[in-house]
Amino acid sequence: MPDAMQSATLDEVFDRIDTDLDDSVQRLFDLLRIPSVSTDSAFDNDTRRAATWCADQLSAIGFDATVRDTTGHPIVVAHHAGESKSPHVLYYGHYDVQPPDPLELWKSPPFEPVLAESAHGKKIVARGAVDDKGQLMTFIEAFRAWKAVHGSLPFPVSIMLEGEEESGSPSLDAFLEANKDELQADVCVVCDTGMWDIDTPAITYMLRGLLYTEITLHGPTHDLHSGMYGGAVLNPINALTRVLAQLHDHDGRIQVPGFYDDVREIGEAEAQQWRTLGFDEEAFLGSAGLKTPTGEAGRSTLERTWSRPTCDINGIKGGYIGEGAKTVIGSHATAKVSFRLVADQDPQKILAGLKQFLDARTPPDGRWEIDNHGASPAMRVPTKSPYLTAALAGLKRAYDRDPVLIGTGGSIPLVGSVQRILGFDSLLVGFGLDDDAVHSPNEKFELRCYHGGIKSHAAIIAELAQLSRT
Ligand code: BES
Ligand code: ZN
Repeated sequence: MPDAMQSATLDEVFDRIDTDLDDSVQRLFDLLRIPSVSTDSAFDNDTRRAATWCADQLSAIGFDATVRDTTGHPIVVAHHAGESKSPHVLYYGHYDVQPPDPLELWKSPPFEPVLAESAHGKKIVARGAVDDKGQLMTFIEAFRAWKAVHGSLPFPVSIMLEGEEESGSPSLDAFLEANKDELQADVCVVCDTGMWDIDTPAITYMLRGLLYTEITLHGPTHDLHSGMYGGAVLNPINALTRVLAQLHDHDGRIQVPGFYDDVREIGEAEAQQWRTLGFDEEAFLGSAGLKTPTGEAGRSTLERTWSRPTCDINGIKGGYIGEGAKTVIGSHATAKVSFRLVADQDPQKILAGLKQFLDARTPPDGRWEIDNHGASPAMRVPTKSPYLTAALAGLKRAYDRDPVLIGTGGSIPLVGSVQRILGFDSLLVGFGLDDDAVHSPNEKFELRCYHGGIKSHAAIIAELAQLSRT
């Protein structure tokens, strides 16, 4: 198709997206009303309902969609033939969400989506608005509009929507292994990341990995009176917190043996590219109500979040936490401790190092129990490929501005699994903003980002379609 004709037809798809926007928002609201919290089994029926809802939407726009059982939550798989044979593109998103608590901090109920005023116009507020229901709907709505205008899709498309991303994707690898042939494609488009800012689209080329552990220190056989026993026997909370406090030294360096062995410094060219982005540290800290950067000594905030490994205590429990006072020594104490990993760090090696770290600090009469809630390595995706070039061109057409290449501190286990098991790379295109309150109360997705995301995917489809001509 000549370029002028190709732009005219993309303009028609853009027009269709504009006129259908209100309905696109209503469809997203329907999905947001389903509380698909993957980590909490009380929501298992809702999680399945969300999968079925997505499959029904895809069937309605002509995909051959199925809800597939796994050892955990179902995975939605859908296929659509194309006018040409290539490229074959696999699109990925996740329909599960994080728990909404603390509920009392939400200004409107988490599963009753609303359009609220925002500095950028309107915002969609609900759990999962941006992570990841709003984002997976950006490509579904783009396919809907494309088909309404053209009646078909230009290349074969497969879609995979996962229901366990927020709990570490425990069933994903086995599913990919079992369905390797069916899921073959040339590239995987992942829509679960962010923009640089509301006007500047971005492609994410590096993700950190994650090792998530739960550490319990067991002590006395039962809870004890702290007047009778306190100061004379092991208090697991005292001992656990003392050990946790040793995870970092005064310079913020992690003390797990071998932790930095495989960590590489970024190159000068990469450091220079990051400098050109003009990171606004004040705005970043301000989005969390803070002013003071902190972390590993001698590192910039972008390094600390993109290219350096970290350790965070995500939760801690033990003893008495009810109202008022209870003079007790709890029999055990637990902490959820996670590590964001970079480049060549091997999650299993880090776990072995953590066990060594704890064993060396076992208090007399104490016993450690260590659970692993998931491990995924860090990933980098190629910054030069025809698919990346097409996606950059598509983003530029949708935003009329050059997109940038960025890193992120977050993790998406699928990216490594697709590379390792299916053998192809991913393209991380996303429309979230730093201040979207992901995983927090009052999570939101700017309406402008939802709209721009749908248009971007349409433009990326147009650009990817050009590849089949070459
Ligand atoms: N969408 C996020 C990942 C992300 C966060 C990308 C911030 C870009 C910026 C994803 O849904 C997520 O939260 N992943 C988890 C994965 C974990 C449970 C294995 C994460 O990073 O904590
Ligand atoms: Zn998330």
